[in-house]
Amino acid sequence: MPHSKPLWSGRFKEPLSEIALKFSSSIDFDKQLYQEDIAGSIAHVEMLAAVKIITAEEGRRIRKALKEITREIEGGHLDLSWEKEDIHLAIERRLTQKIGPVGGKLHTGRSRNDQIALDERLYLRTAIHELQKLIVQLQRVLLYHAEKYFRVIVPGYTHLQRAQPVYLSHHFLAYVSMLERDFERLSDCRKRANKLPLGAAALAGTSFPIDRAMVAKKLGFDGIVENSMDAVSDRDYLIEFIAACSTIMIHLSRFAEELVLWSSQEFSFATIDDAYTTGSSIMPQKKNPDMAELVRGKTGRVFGSLTAILTIMKALPLAYNRDMQEDKIPFFDAVTTTRECLFIFSHILVHTHFNKDRFEEELKYDFLTATDVAEYLVQKGIPFREAHSITGKIVAYAADQKKSMSQLTLKDLKHYSKEFSDDVFDLLDPHTSVERKKSAGSTSPNEVKKQIVHWTRALKNKKLQ
Ligand code: ARG
Repeated sequence: MPHSKPLWSGRFKEPLSEIALKFSSSIDFDKQLYQEDIAGSIAHVEMLAAVKIITAEEGRRIRKALKEITREIEGGHLDLSWEKEDIHLAIERRLTQKIGPVGGKLHTGRSRNDQIALDERLYLRTAIHELQKLIVQLQRVLLYHAEKYFRVIVPGYTHLQRAQPVYLSHHFLAYVSMLERDFERLSDCRKRANKLPLGAAALAGTSFPIDRAMVAKKLGFDGIVENSMDAVSDRDYLIEFIAACSTIMIHLSRFAEELVLWSSQEFSFATIDDAYTTGSSIMPQKKNPDMAELVRGKTGRVFGSLTAILTIMKALPLAYNRDMQEDKIPFFDAVTTTRECLFIFSHILVHTHFNKDRFEEELKYDFLTATDVAEYLVQKGIPFREAHSITGKIVAYAADQKKSMSQLTLKDLKHYSKEFSDDVFDLLDPHTSVERKKSAGSTSPNEVKKQIVHWTRALKNKKLQ
């Protein structure tokens, strides 16, 4: 396929082979950056005119043409096929086609190396904003459920073995807290990423009297990346970001796993509406929690992106290396996957019902309150370790007899410790168990209510980045 001469081809006697061009072309994926690329170019060209590296008239013509190019791209009128190499060259070539040699002045004092770093940092800011918005949306759905199911008690698990009764609200609010840290991680990442790399040029800076601070201000950055070699060669902002996405995905995946378990017939704790489940092509009775499973599965994809970016960057000598072109694939995929998963998760949750009666049923028949019995003995003066052992023996005895603790008699209990009296039976009720909790952050009704009040306020006018 014939292609026009690359813009960088001055020193070459031979054209780039078609095979090599096809192999190295990145436009298929970096065309997503067209808005950022043009925004960066406009700020750059305004600065070039302001410091008189180009004339005001030249600046005006370039800006106007760049805006037209945006419309051409959005209307699908600009050829962005692989022969164009990358989005930067495609736009610059079109600019020169439109306004002639003056278009060639746009690239004064910059290189594609600082240009791509700029585009990525701009894209990152938008991605962080979108993800934070979706995190808050999910937190709000969780808070809604925490209020709706207030005082519903569920078995709390450790090792997926029944442990102690907790409020279902407490369970939901645990995820609200996790998501809050995810939100903060994104804010932290933004803080470090929000510096302008443009003006570093290829790696050494430029002899043109450019004003980097002016460009930084125009584009909403909190300053410039100080060292020009650092500016073009690091991708730590992507590593941090994809790591933050991975943590979001871990949280979603754990919750997804719980929904899969809870909606199984064995648990029957949750029912996901038909609209968010799928059937089987062979087994007519099936109703599968595919959306939750896909969130769990896509988590692996985001971890893959993290591994990819880490491996791409490892051992690269300073400054720019073409390897870094590969960074956009894991970056974009992490953004899209995390965004889609956060989005669907809010919807899945809105369409999930938690089966109060099933919880109640389960709570009747087990040893969830054994810890309360041990604490009871401690209050009677028995050291905790001993109380633990006595209670353990009672549990073993009851299990042998195929009875729950509340089906034992006082006589049975007294056989293990003379400290037992009738009031111990109150403790066997899971409601009493949660109500007796006193520690800050516990599942007591007061503490759970405090969390609800806190999050209602905190999520009301949450400031996004
Ligand atoms: N497409 C390139 C990338 O994404 C842009 C920078 C190219 N720079 C270069 N010196 N070839 O990394």
